[in-house]
Amino acid sequence: MVDAHAREVRVAVLMGGRSAEREISLKTGAQVSAALEAKGFGVVEVDTGDSDFVTRFATSDCHVAFICLHGRFGEDGTVQGLCELLDIPYVGSGVLASALAMDKVMSKRFYRAAGIPTPDFFVLKRGEELDTGAIVATLGEKVVVKPANEGSALGVTIVHEPAELAQAVGVALTYDRTVLIERFVEGVEVTVGVLGNEHPMSLPTIEIVPEHEFYDFESKYLPGMSRHIIPARISEGARAECERLAVEAHLALGCRGMSRSDLIVSPDGAVQLLETNTIPGMTQTSLLPDAARAAGMEFPDLCSRLIELALEPRT
Ligand SMILES: Nc1ncnc2c1ncn2[C@@H]1O[C@H](COP(=O)(O)OP(=O)(O)O)[C@@H](O)[C@H]1O
Ligand SMILES: [Mg+2]
Repeated sequence: MVDAHAREVRVAVLMGGRSAEREISLKTGAQVSAALEAKGFGVVEVDTGDSDFVTRFATSDCHVAFICLHGRFGEDGTVQGLCELLDIPYVGSGVLASALAMDKVMSKRFYRAAGIPTPDFFVLKRGEELDTGAIVATLGEKVVVKPANEGSALGVTIVHEPAELAQAVGVALTYDRTVLIERFVEGVEVTVGVLGNEHPMSLPTIEIVPEHEFYDFESKYLPGMSRHIIPARISEGARAECERLAVEAHLALGCRGMSRSDLIVSPDGAVQLLETNTIPGMTQTSLLPDAARAAGMEFPDLCSRLIELALEPRT
């Protein structure tokens, strides 16, 4: 269905860019553009990997930007800052929330301050000595090593025994100068999408079942490498808790428009929050669109709802 007001709204779809997730972003951007066009919006696609993209964007005469960029230079507050400078409203979180959510160490500090449970962790900066003994004593032998600022599970290693720790840290350090070493949490992995600005609502909880040991890059993006199960096979109480925590995380980081938090539900029903994505995958088969569909919102409706939220005045 074409929205009546959409005809007057021109949307710049920012896509591509320079992050490790460029290919995913191009796919997201193409599908968002098509959905917005189907809704009747005017669409201008801008590849932020092009050297003249700032001029193209600034002179595109668009009313709003739909940022389809994942990872650095897009999901991290930088492009949001550019939109602020150009005075162009944009879909999703502002500069601060985007930067906070992108940084897994900073966001965990905010979760803790807000009473949101998140696995215990160590932080290691490039050049600092790795104290394997202290890490094993605090977190146990099985840990997860990740770069502080990256997405799509790039540079993430599940470490099963202390002897593997140094190499995993080395891998993560090739992506970022700060590395997060986190306690491994056994359980059912779920993700919860959240929509809204000041009064956000959660979408149905999705259970993720990867073919590999964890939800790595291939599980995320290759067809058939993971299954999305709605409703998640967890207790009613745990499901409600996941949805409550995802909304709390959205509010704690100050997100707008949309977010999607990843969580793990332990066999005893305890829930821990891993991270919050401010620009989750937005192809038709990605997790947030799947959750929206389960709530009765088709992909084009979701895209136009996000434009509406972006144009809502800030309080
Ligand atoms: N502490 C943990 N315990 C168990 N599994 C984890 C943990 N941290 C991450 N994982 C696994 O690694 C995947 C990627 O980690 P995540 O923190 O979501 O980073 P990103 O998706 O940004 O790369 C998760 O989806 C999950 O499968
Ligand atoms: Mg994740």
